[in-house]
Amino acid sequence: MKTIEQRTSPLRGEVTVPGDKSISHRAVMFGSIARGNTEISGFLPGADCLSTVDCFRRLGVEIDTDVQRGRVTVHGKGMRGLCPASDPVDLYTGNSGTTTRIMSGILAPQHFTSVVSGDASISARPMRRVILPLSLMGASITSINGNDCAPLRIEGRGLHGITYQSPVASAQVKSSILCAGLYAEGITEVIEPSLSRDHTERMLRSFGADIESFEGKDGWHARTSFCPELSARRISVPGDISSAAYFIAAASLVPGSEVLIRNVGINPTRAGIIDIAVRMGADITMLNIRNDAEPSADLLVRHAPLHGVTFGGSVIPTLIDEIPAIAVMAAAAEGTTCIRDAAELKVKETDRITTISGNLKAMGGTVFPNEDGLVIEGCGAGSGPALKGALIRTGGDHRIAMAFSVAALIAEGQTTIDDEHCADVSYPGFYRDLNAL
Ligand code: S3P
Repeated sequence: MKTIEQRTSPLRGEVTVPGDKSISHRAVMFGSIARGNTEISGFLPGADCLSTVDCFRRLGVEIDTDVQRGRVTVHGKGMRGLCPASDPVDLYTGNSGTTTRIMSGILAPQHFTSVVSGDASISARPMRRVILPLSLMGASITSINGNDCAPLRIEGRGLHGITYQSPVASAQVKSSILCAGLYAEGITEVIEPSLSRDHTERMLRSFGADIESFEGKDGWHARTSFCPELSARRISVPGDISSAAYFIAAASLVPGSEVLIRNVGINPTRAGIIDIAVRMGADITMLNIRNDAEPSADLLVRHAPLHGVTFGGSVIPTLIDEIPAIAVMAAAAEGTTCIRDAAELKVKETDRITTISGNLKAMGGTVFPNEDGLVIEGCGAGSGPALKGALIRTGGDHRIAMAFSVAALIAEGQTTIDDEHCADVSYPGFYRDLNAL
């Protein structure tokens, strides 16, 4: 339990958020099947990424970690080099959907059997979205409890390429299929309805894989083919825009604030929060833009009055993890915010349509959850009753804990976060960094 008081002074200063979670996971996974050493700087030492490290160690990969300095070296084993100590090998992915789904695509074509399990949240999240396409490629994957969730038993075997029209824009699904495609005979292609984050395509390409991506009439295509070898390279992980989101929200909401968020990844497939926050009236200036393999910038955020907006469609995958933070901004904005086409929120670490609306209501907010999003009536400029402190029920969801810690800063009185430690999954040190401003 953690108690947070309403903030009576502006937030001022600088913050460097930890490394990007999606990129950190991929650097370990792809580094493990590459030839040579992948030296990673800016690695996120969050519990999720450490689950990935642990799984690949169990698969026989030597991985040196200097967690304090965010430095990790993966001693790659090559495409056919994973060699678990036991068969089947037990792999525990904790709370991490990214590890569970993408690693399944790497395990399906191996010469051994794996059992992949995770915590209670992972054991209730849909895995059919990867079981189905990987099975179409020839994989043998069984949901041990017969509910299309983890634990999964994956019996490695030879795969063949497919063209798969994914019903959801999901980078985890796309990446899982592309990883399997590196081992499969022929060409593997994923078509998704909107473009989801493209870190896999960028990183695999830089490791020497043949990856094509383009927009077609039927959606966004990512295509790969059998890949005999990947070559390790140095990876510098930028700060996670999903973690920066809480400071964008906090600095925008607390009067008089001015916060510089250093070295934030601004890959366009991730940066939707900046566009939407600016549409809401946020004052964000991008400084020191660096166009590396993954672009990054410093973000200067100043307090500004916010107003409601309507958004949905193709922007949703570019900000899906930031919706809890956006919802908090919306609750304090003037007027109505409509978030549409975001049914994927229901299958995140918690059903976030429910956890966001339940907690906003507990704080006195006006919110109408629906099947694919939320309608939020803001209280800005006196347009509704001010938010008040409440008990926040996170459901063990890191993003709910952090988003509502920001809401607490502008809520009258005291807010209690029931399980603040769940933030460690993606942002160890979050409360320290927030308090330091
Ligand atoms: C992720 C993709 C997103 C995101 C998750 C991380 C990734 O999930 O919500 O936190 O690293 O590929 P989906 O791809 O399922 O939308």
